[in-house]
Amino acid sequence: RKPLSLPRLAQMHAQGEKISMLTAYDATFAAMADAAGVDCLLVGDSLGMVCQGLPSTVGVTLDTMRYHTESVARGLHRVQGTAWLIADLPFGSYQESREQALRSATVLMQAGAHMVKLEGGGWTTETVRFLVERGIPVCAHLGLTPQTVHALGGYRVQGRDDAAASVLRQHALDLQGAGAAMLVLEMVPAALAASLTQELTGCATIGIGAGRSTAGQVLVLHDMLGINLGKMPKFVRNFTADGGGIAQALQAYVRAVKDGSFPDDRLHAW
Ligand code: KIV
Ligand code: NA
Repeated sequence: RKPLSLPRLAQMHAQGEKISMLTAYDATFAAMADAAGVDCLLVGDSLGMVCQGLPSTVGVTLDTMRYHTESVARGLHRVQGTAWLIADLPFGSYQESREQALRSATVLMQAGAHMVKLEGGGWTTETVRFLVERGIPVCAHLGLTPQTVHALGGYRVQGRDDAAASVLRQHALDLQGAGAAMLVLEMVPAALAASLTQELTGCATIGIGAGRSTAGQVLVLHDMLGINLGKMPKFVRNFTADGGGIAQALQAYVRAVKDGSFPDDRLHAW
């Protein structure tokens, strides 16, 4: 398959082909996910919990994100991978100023990322515009934004009432206007994610706990492989549950996202 690119992703979006995304934190899993046909790999700051044992993503540093992004990029390079590589800008690495965001994004792009992701709406619009104008593709992230968990008061569904939904919608439109090519929607009502997906023709929505109508889906790799000590988030499906191996689970995930059988309605009751 040809390497994924921004134009190719835009084409998939326009043609209604679902975009599959998983997190990846190391070289070997990155290569395996790529071989299974996963479109986009996200070096998520969820690695703070998954790899580092932190209580939240707040403690993840830019240097740690650089390390894991380099590892994933090397894994892809070794197998001549084709996945689109996105890396999270961690907490505190982009909030200070647009210039700080550019410096931090540069670190991740030089580590091998093709795109950076940052959380939040409103104040982030000008930051996104600043990065995009300077040649850095950006993925935005609205709804449950884990870096601000302490301000949100917990890991809970966002955009439930009309006022919150209309703020979220305006943030999404502004981020699209600033040039964000993708938008992760985390734990928002399925109906809100569906209507935003309809409205945002220039920005592909990627859902996690946001129903089945988004342009793509993302899960934390370890969650979908059943590698999880605590209770699994409700929106996760364990793709190893039928007894297959890891490669089969990754392939099954791609298939289920592409044919729309993941997620099903049971997995998103909000
Ligand atoms: O860090 C992460 O894994 C993420 C995804 C869940 C979207 O941001
Ligand atoms: Na993240």
